[in-house]
Amino acid sequence: MHLRHRTAAVLLAAALVLLLWARRLSGFAGRNRVSPEIFNSTLGFQQIFAINLPSRTDRRDALTLAAAVSGLNITFIDGVAGADVLDKTVPGDPAARPGFTVGNKGSWRAHMNVLQRILETNLETALILEDDADWDIRLPFQLQQFALAAQAFTHPSAHTRQTLAKFHHGVNLPVANLPPLPHHQPHASPYGPAWDLLWLGHCGTDFPLPDSNLSSLRVTIPQDSTVPSRQHLRPHPFALLDKLGEEYPPHTRVVHAPRGAVCTQAYAVSRRGAGKLLWRFGLREVTGGWDLMVRDWCDGVFHGGGAGEGEDGNGRGGGESLGGEERLPVCVTVQPPLFSHHYGKGGGSDIVPAGGGFLKGEREMTPYVRKSVRLNLERLVDGREAVEQWGGDEE
Ligand SMILES: *[C@@H]1O[C@H](CO)[C@@H](O)[C@H](O)[C@H]1NC(C)=O
Ligand SMILES: *[C@@H]1O[C@H](CO)[C@@H](O)[C@H](O)[C@H]1NC(C)=O
Ligand SMILES: *[C@@H]1O[C@H](CO)[C@@H](O)[C@H](O)[C@H]1NC(C)=O
Repeated sequence: MHLRHRTAAVLLAAALVLLLWARRLSGFAGRNRVSPEIFNSTLGFQQIFAINLPSRTDRRDALTLAAAVSGLNITFIDGVAGADVLDKTVPGDPAARPGFTVGNKGSWRAHMNVLQRILETNLETALILEDDADWDIRLPFQLQQFALAAQAFTHPSAHTRQTLAKFHHGVNLPVANLPPLPHHQPHASPYGPAWDLLWLGHCGTDFPLPDSNLSSLRVTIPQDSTVPSRQHLRPHPFALLDKLGEEYPPHTRVVHAPRGAVCTQAYAVSRRGAGKLLWRFGLREVTGGWDLMVRDWCDGVFHGGGAGEGEDGNGRGGGESLGGEERLPVCVTVQPPLFSHHYGKGGGSDIVPAGGGFLKGEREMTPYVRKSVRLNLERLVDGREAVEQWGGDEE
C-alpha cells in the first residue's frame, strides 16, 4: 500500500515535469500565437477592398484573377476621376497643396470613399489595395510572421509597449525572442487590438530616428526565404538599393514604425484609424497626394500635442487635447514590403507610379516579390506551382 502510494507520487511528479517541459518547448515554438484566421479569404482582416476605376477593366480583370488564384475575396470600390470632384469638397487651403494634380484629387476621393464605407458598414479592420498591387503566393505565411512581430507595437497596454521599447531601444529584437505578451481581449484582430494603420505595401520607408516620438523598436524576422537577396531590394529597377540590405544579414525582414514612407499600394486600417483619417483628410485639410498625407500622418506631423501617455496612445508620446493636436497614430510597417506595385505590360497608371513610365516595353516585374502572383498567373490558372522571378540570382 505504502509502496503503491510512492509509485503513484513518483509517476505524478514525472508527469508534471513532462507537462511543464512540453509547455516550455511549445513555448519556444511561438509563445505569442497568432490566430489561424490570417489564412482566411480576407487575410485575417474583416474585408479587403481594392480601388479601381471602372474604365480600367484591364486592371480589374488582372486583380480579380490574382485574388482568385490566391484564395482571396476582394471587394471592388470604384475609383473616382479627378474631374468629377468639385473643388469645394476638398477641405483646406488650395495654396497649401502645390502640385496637387487632378489625378491626386480623384485618388484622394476614392480613399475617402473606402474609409467612409468602413465606418458605414461597421468594419473593425479592412485591407485597402490599389489595383496594381502584387504579392507573393506565400502571403498568408508572411502575414503570420508580420502579425507576431506587429504585436510588439499593437499591444493595448502602453506599459507593455513602453517596456519593450525601453529595453530594445534602437536594438533589433528577433521575433522569436519577443517576450510573452499578456493576452489581449478575445475577438481582437489577429494583428493586435490597438493599431491605426498597417503599411504593408510601400515603395520605401526609413527607420525612425532615435529620440523622436516614434518608436525606435525593430522586430526582425531573420532567415525569411521569401525576402529577395540584396541586389533586388529596391522599389524599381533603376532605384538605389535599399539600406536594409547593408544593415541586415541577407533575407531579413524588419517590422518597425514607418518614417517617410511613400506609396500606398496596400495598407490596413482599423475602425479607429479610418475615423481619424477621415476626420483629418476628409474634413480638415488636404495637403497633397494621398500617400504623402498618410506619410505625414504616421510621422506625427499633425501631432503637436501635450505630454502624457494615454493608455490608448502608442507608447511614444501623445495626449488628449481639444485643439488641433492629435495623439500619434499607431502605424506599423515592414521592410521589404509585402505588397508591391506590379510593372506590367498594360496601359500604365492613371496617376504616376514611382519610377514613372520607365518600363514601357521592358520586361514585366514586381519589386520585392519573389514568387509574384501576377508574374505567375498563367501557371497558377493552370494549376502549376509559382516560380521565382529572379530564378538563378537567388541563393
Ligand atoms: C477572417 O478573419 C477575420 C479576423 O478574425 C474576421 O474578422 C473575418 O470575418 C474573417 N473573414 C472571413 C471571410 O471569414
Ligand atoms: C466574398 O464574400 C462575399 C460576402 O462577404 C460572398 O458573398 C462572396 O461569395 C465571396 N466570394 C468568394 C469568391 O468567396
Ligand atoms: C514629441 O511630442 C511632443 C508632444 O507630445 C512635442 O512637444 C515634441 O516636440 C515632440 N518631439 C519630437 C522630437 O518630435
